[in-house]
Amino acid sequence: MSEKALYQEIGLVNTRKMFEVAMKGKFAIPAYNFNNMEQLQAIVNGCVASDSPFILQVSSGARKYADQTLLRWMAQGAVEMIKAQGTPLKFALHLDHGDTFELCKSCIETGFSSVMIDGSHHPYDKNVEETRKVVEYAHKYDVTVEGELGVLAGIEDDVVAAKSIYTQPDQVVDFVKKTGVDSLAISIGTSHGAYKFKAAQCTRNAQGILEPPPLRFDILEEIEKRIPGFPIVLHGASSVVQKYVDMINKFGGKMEDAVGIPEAQLRKAATSAVCKINIDSDGRLAMTGAIRKAFAENPKEFDPRKYLGPARDELKSLIIDKNKNVLGSAGHGKEIFA
Ligand code: G3H
Ligand code: 13P
Ligand code: ZN
Repeated sequence: MSEKALYQEIGLVNTRKMFEVAMKGKFAIPAYNFNNMEQLQAIVNGCVASDSPFILQVSSGARKYADQTLLRWMAQGAVEMIKAQGTPLKFALHLDHGDTFELCKSCIETGFSSVMIDGSHHPYDKNVEETRKVVEYAHKYDVTVEGELGVLAGIEDDVVAAKSIYTQPDQVVDFVKKTGVDSLAISIGTSHGAYKFKAAQCTRNAQGILEPPPLRFDILEEIEKRIPGFPIVLHGASSVVQKYVDMINKFGGKMEDAVGIPEAQLRKAATSAVCKINIDSDGRLAMTGAIRKAFAENPKEFDPRKYLGPARDELKSLIIDKNKNVLGSAGHGKEIFA
């Protein structure tokens, strides 16, 4: 029996039911990161507009940037904002890349409904031990836990790894059994940030745009065979939408050879046991493109609402597009929460 957790009082949900429905329905739940009000409004309103279940993610970097207390109350504000719109939609508030038991515990105590303990940089036994400890604590409150096996390449503020190490299918049964995690993040060729592959790893198409190597669906299939029906998570799953890279470059930016995961591969992943797909960089690109455009076109403007507003609109339209056309989560909100 779990004790009543703060997240339930706030009106948040854990990820369990969302993943069950996503697995059966062959789609994936989007997990969007946020640090500020405009991102939060765009994510929430984009998901309400497309009736999509979603996970709102907070990284350690976001907690440092925006203040952990403020972020948690902003999430609570979003619950109330959704209710005021008269929709039954609910969401999970998730710690992204938690790196210690203490951080996970603190998030659970302050209202998170789901946490990731990312022990992927530790040796296997230490990863198992840390993850098990978080699961034991989290499950007392019916908070769901995501673990990670395998290492993603890529560099972001707080998430750093020089090269990827694919998840070894032979380890997953043991890891899931020993830790008791609710979902597992794996490494099959995705990576964090807007420069997911070096030019030397890619080919160039007729327009000179880099085309990356395909994801390792063979590894994903092996993992699915070992733990059938178990929810899998893909990190580093931004497509690095070319339209936004072009917008940034057109209006004074310099993002050469930015490259992500092609949408067709994410659509394919979403129909498999992949139940959660993490997207942060695409949102950053959409907002940056819109802000650069607003600055270039209105050089006299100095009201932040005049450039943050268009950035928020652009992010909302990206979210709706992802939910409808990439993850397939659009239209499933009422099915889960009504
Ligand atoms: O996986 C990393 C997320 O994109 C969060 O990035 O650490 O810069 O907030 P951040
Ligand atoms: P992207 O950098 O590809 O958006 O990945 C985000 C992520 O994995 C957050 O945990
Ligand atoms: Zn990640």
